[in-house]
Amino acid sequence: MNGALLAECVTWLIISVRFNCFMNIKSLDDNLNLEGKRVLLRVDFNVPINDGTITENSRIEKVLPTIKYLINKKAKIIIISHLGRPKGKIIPELSLKPIGKKLSSYLNQDIKFLNENIGSLVIENSKKIPNGKILLLENLRFNKEEELNTKNFAKELSKIGDIYINEAFSCSHRAHTSVCEITKYINSFAGKQLVEEVNTIKMLINDAKKPVTCIIGGSKISTKIGILNSLIKKMETIVIVGAMANNFIKHNGFNIGQSIFEKNQEKLLVEIIKKCKANNCKLVLPQDVIASKNHKAMGQLKNLDEIDDTDLILDIGEKTIENILKIIDESRTVLWNGPAGYFEVKEFSVGSNKIANKIYDNTKNKSLISIAGGGDTVAAINSFKCSDGFTYISTAGGAFLEFLEGKVLPGIKALETNE
Ligand code: 3PG
Ligand code: MG
Repeated sequence: MNGALLAECVTWLIISVRFNCFMNIKSLDDNLNLEGKRVLLRVDFNVPINDGTITENSRIEKVLPTIKYLINKKAKIIIISHLGRPKGKIIPELSLKPIGKKLSSYLNQDIKFLNENIGSLVIENSKKIPNGKILLLENLRFNKEEELNTKNFAKELSKIGDIYINEAFSCSHRAHTSVCEITKYINSFAGKQLVEEVNTIKMLINDAKKPVTCIIGGSKISTKIGILNSLIKKMETIVIVGAMANNFIKHNGFNIGQSIFEKNQEKLLVEIIKKCKANNCKLVLPQDVIASKNHKAMGQLKNLDEIDDTDLILDIGEKTIENILKIIDESRTVLWNGPAGYFEVKEFSVGSNKIANKIYDNTKNKSLISIAGGGDTVAAINSFKCSDGFTYISTAGGAFLEFLEGKVLPGIKALETNE
């Protein structure tokens, strides 16, 4: 065995030992005979749809290897997912039917769709699927029991498959029936993509090289407070951008005009600022912004004291961008969740675009470790054609953040074994 090969084997040995320590979840064994077996596959097809058109395909593309694997294994594949937040009502715009069409074009095979997800018709159809073919069921959240994690719905769902696979890391922070309760009634496994995602994020975080910088954007400060609180202790720098930064700008006494911000968060802000000081973590906020009177265009570069009552803050300004790029240059690990501005409109995408490109360059040329997560962040990175420059990109948003925070995700816990 040559030196390089030996080094590689040792690395793999270390990685596998660590992986095993990470969690005791039952993952799919390649020796399992799946021929003719009904495999109930929980995926996350919660993709953005605009006027009936899917605008971001990453979550569909992510599970293609698993689906192809099951096709090769000649399984009868039954796919289940949620889409949006219909809250137990049937909302035609949130049907999974168009996603079935998209999936069918990726796989080059017809996919049968049923506008139900439990009951005798579904069970009957699940048995009739030819080996290696797919049945897609309707949005799980059209049934109000999905979000209630009920025994009844779990039992009904479990009748549709012989085995169950959770391939939806991005939903595993939800204690919902199709990711949690169901595992009590059917032989359940973690999908290969889920295992890889969990292990990769953990390994990268454990191996994070200092200095570590976390760039947090997006809008809801209250949903990100947990992660901020836990990351402050681990990071050298936290950069706050996007609508989240508006709360801090306002807190610091500046006018934010008509910009989005979250009310009643003062206590949380003070806590974050205090904690950063106590832990020697640098808190970086925008110094200037691009403001506009509407979301369409015509932004103007403004210092914070120039923002007026009719302004909307839609991107970070030049000085802020320059500062963030310098921070990325000085970092050896960067975590990114949440765009810096309203990137859907090109004029307001400059901040996110420059951040993405800087991370891309440094990951490629300076071995920066870069991890990004969240639906909008992934969409932004893809639109800037930077995705192949990141060490790892997670399609998960909330689950990614809760996982980084160190929380035990209910969907992952439900797959744990005592062996
Ligand atoms: C997500 O996009 O975060 C997951 O699909 C879960 O959806 P939810 O946030 O509506 O529960
Ligand atoms: Mg979410």
